[in-house]
Amino acid sequence: MNREHWATKIGLILAAAGNAVGLGNLLRFPSKAALYGGGAFMVPYFISLILLGLPVMLLEWVIGRYAGKRGHGSMTGIIGLFFNQASWARALGSIGVAIPVLIVMYYLWIESWTLGFAVFSLLGAIPEPVNSSDPKTAMEPYVSFFRNYTAPSIWAGIFFWITLAINWIILQRGVARGIEITAKIAMPALIVMGIFLGIVSLSINDGRGLEGLKFIYNLNFSGIRDPNVWIEASGQIFFTLSLGMGAIATYASYVKPKEDVVKAGLFTAGINEFVEVIIGASIAIPAAFAIFGALAVPELAKEGTFRLGFMTMPAILMSLPFGQIISFFWFMLLFIAALTSSLALIQPLVAFFEDEMKWSHTKAVTVSMLIVILGAHLCAFVPNFLDELDFWAGAVFLLLFALIEIIVFVWVFGVDNFYRELTSDTSIRFPKLFVYIIGIVSPLFIIFIGYFWFSEKILDVLQETDPYKWMARLFILIFLVFLMALAVVSRKKVLEGPRI
Ligand code: TRP
Repeated sequence: MNREHWATKIGLILAAAGNAVGLGNLLRFPSKAALYGGGAFMVPYFISLILLGLPVMLLEWVIGRYAGKRGHGSMTGIIGLFFNQASWARALGSIGVAIPVLIVMYYLWIESWTLGFAVFSLLGAIPEPVNSSDPKTAMEPYVSFFRNYTAPSIWAGIFFWITLAINWIILQRGVARGIEITAKIAMPALIVMGIFLGIVSLSINDGRGLEGLKFIYNLNFSGIRDPNVWIEASGQIFFTLSLGMGAIATYASYVKPKEDVVKAGLFTAGINEFVEVIIGASIAIPAAFAIFGALAVPELAKEGTFRLGFMTMPAILMSLPFGQIISFFWFMLLFIAALTSSLALIQPLVAFFEDEMKWSHTKAVTVSMLIVILGAHLCAFVPNFLDELDFWAGAVFLLLFALIEIIVFVWVFGVDNFYRELTSDTSIRFPKLFVYIIGIVSPLFIIFIGYFWFSEKILDVLQETDPYKWMARLFILIFLVFLMALAVVSRKKVLEGPRI
């Protein structure tokens, strides 16, 4: 079967940037930065970017191109490639298909709130601002609005289904005609709106917003001895760059055979970091600083990632002149960022059905969407489902799978083989030392983080008493076993198929 390709170079870069740029940049990053001390968080953050983010980004691009040429775009087939498509290797690789799908199940629910809140802002249907410098009082109406909306309400359901339909339609149109065209429109709009909102936020209250930016960039080493800060900073790097889950490799598998993937990888990381540490840093935190002052911010962030984006921000923005419009821009910004990421989170499953099960595109997209929609509804209706999926797919599996990727692509493939792939068809020549950073430093880093994380959380995990959380765990397990079984069953088809 002929695999699709990205139609243009610029489209490829924008699609990959759209993959990485998401809610992580605009919501998760500011909350984490505020919670872990601003400048104290940023030092481990930048170190993780260099030692973990960039190496794994290039690793996934290089391997994605390599696997695409051989007819595989999902981690099931990609990990399988290095073991003659042995059943166990395909099953192991399927973890890398399960992770993005588990993430998108809750990601879509949040994405749909941004669409709903955007429309409600424009229509003037979100609460009027309360003039108070006390964050609790000022936010009160927005807190109840958020609670009622996500209860879930009828309206939340309607915007949820609209969001699901939009994703479905775009994916059905395919890689070049769906995802690429969406990114070509969405990404420039995102950058423009992001810069606009950054300027607005920094200038609130005669420029007091700048204090917030200073708080984030007051680089200092006070967090460097705290394993928690390292875990959170490196976790953010993985999440924001979409790494450790095969999603980048899936996109990379659709490049033309001689595409410069090193350049594409550097662009992806570069654009993502621009939207995170410049634009993301200039909006929510500065706005909150300007209105509520320094002390309120870590407090706000402590109450969860959604607090800042869905309650604090509208409370602030609605109090500005043209508040409805600005609030609309904020939620549209989030929606666009989320949409281009949710497409990327589902595509690995589509690729799995097409490349491994040899299904038609329509069948692959339909079944993928039905699975995603089922899980998304569980996240919307079952308490704590969202948190539990985020914990397992967004943290535990991700670390584990990144480690598997490195071991297979550098060590099983071979340092020389990998280096040859890294340096072919590109104008950028990394020294061989770089492969050793990927192969040795990055995995040690992951093991170190994993160890601390494990020793800290394992007891809580085992002693969990909430039945909903156990339900979510059961769901994850069933889904994983289901994918693994399909990976094993489809092995024959792949081996019998025409050699590409
Ligand atoms: N990077 C996305 C964000 O910042 C979230 C994300 C994590 C993602 N893993 C992914 C997106 C895989 C696409 C594919 O919000």
